[in-house]
Amino acid sequence: MPTRTIIEPFRIKTVEPIRWTTREEREQRLRAAHYNLFLLPAEDVLIDLLTDSGTGAMSTHQWAALMEGDESYAGSKSFERFRRSVQGIFGYRHVIPTHQGRAAERILFGVMCKKGDVVPNNTHFDTTRANIEFLGAEAVDLPAQEGREPSVQYPFKGNMDVTALERLIERVGRERVPLVMLTITNNSGGGQPASLENIRAVRAVCLKHELPLYFDACRFAENSYFIKLREAGYESKTPKQIAQEIFSLGDGCTMSAKKDGLANIGGFLCTNDDALAQQEKNLLILTEGYPTYGGLAGRDLEAIAVGVEEVLDEDYLRYRIVSTGYLGRHIAEEGVPIVQPPGGHAIYLDARAFLPHIPLEQFPGVALASELYLEGGIRSVEIGTLMFGGAAKMDLVRLAIPRRVYTQSHIDYVIEIILEVWKRRERIRGLKLTYEAPFLRHFTAWLEPV
Ligand code: F0G
Repeated sequence: MPTRTIIEPFRIKTVEPIRWTTREEREQRLRAAHYNLFLLPAEDVLIDLLTDSGTGAMSTHQWAALMEGDESYAGSKSFERFRRSVQGIFGYRHVIPTHQGRAAERILFGVMCKKGDVVPNNTHFDTTRANIEFLGAEAVDLPAQEGREPSVQYPFKGNMDVTALERLIERVGRERVPLVMLTITNNSGGGQPASLENIRAVRAVCLKHELPLYFDACRFAENSYFIKLREAGYESKTPKQIAQEIFSLGDGCTMSAKKDGLANIGGFLCTNDDALAQQEKNLLILTEGYPTYGGLAGRDLEAIAVGVEEVLDEDYLRYRIVSTGYLGRHIAEEGVPIVQPPGGHAIYLDARAFLPHIPLEQFPGVALASELYLEGGIRSVEIGTLMFGGAAKMDLVRLAIPRRVYTQSHIDYVIEIILEVWKRRERIRGLKLTYEAPFLRHFTAWLEPV
């Protein structure tokens, strides 16, 4: 049977108009934003691929659930629904709601880490790293070798280097390692999955040294579906069964429901440890809110309760992974250098290979992101020298795909724009900084063309 087009598994009931601008308007807007796409008003963007976080479209079931929101301060019905739903997938004893992922991180590390500690991860996301470093601890990235080469094809480039983990624990001593983390999928490493084989191997090292294992579970459903597609023995399991198996190998997790929670805000922290949970809830009350709402409205808890279940639907996940891959495949076929294979939530352009004539200190990633905006009103994000300074190992431009928001023709348009910029790449110039903040400078930096 011929393979058929994988269609968006939904009909559209509400539409949000998007607005065209002229090339001249975009030039003016970009200058006014000091060539930093974070500083652009969103209404001047045609296709917004800045992030897949909190930008998804909710389903009719989620909108209906909002009306069921119980806004009681304590013991709300919506919290019970949220807890049941999360526990059905994640399986952990304590579920602590937070306003988003980084709040869960701050509370987890605030309770478990102290100055001088070392926290290994396949690759820390920037808020995870910042929350660890803020406590005077060290965040160490241990990606598997295959994950470091953008052009190398490998099914599980999000794996952790297990030998490096063993060596790190031996070198610093297990007393200095309060926990081990695994980010699924590995966002900073290209949205790449970790295999269950690798997760089990990491688990074995943790058991041997009696260390807790926590997941950064933001994109757990996409990781579970990649396992179904790519790992022997999981072909006939459902994404939910795979997710349950992953989480059964850990002691807890942090989660941003703005990604695979299919919600616009929210997150949670899970643990099996009663004593830790007590301390975490005490901190939660101090800064987030009472443990049955954690900084969220009851209706937000309802939307997440429905979202974490919907995201595991196989029709949704097939469309999600195929549509992201479609963008990657069509530009890679024309020679555009991308991180291979395509990740779950985003395509990452390799700006160093795209613009080899622009020196790193002139920010090839920012130059490329600027051109995509000027050419077609597309907003992306640099993950490279502007974000990490001289420590950047790659200069990438991430095109993150919001969930259930854009259709195939939007993506066809994005492909056309990238290919037009690719054709005239030799004429693209670099940029120089005119203002930078002392930390996390990429959010507020000012630049201008050299
Ligand atoms: N962990 C990972 C892997 C993430 O990608 C993010 C957010 C967080 C933690 C923090 O969650 O935003 O809810 O506080 N990533 C977004 C992005 C911002 O664009 O990749 P949050």
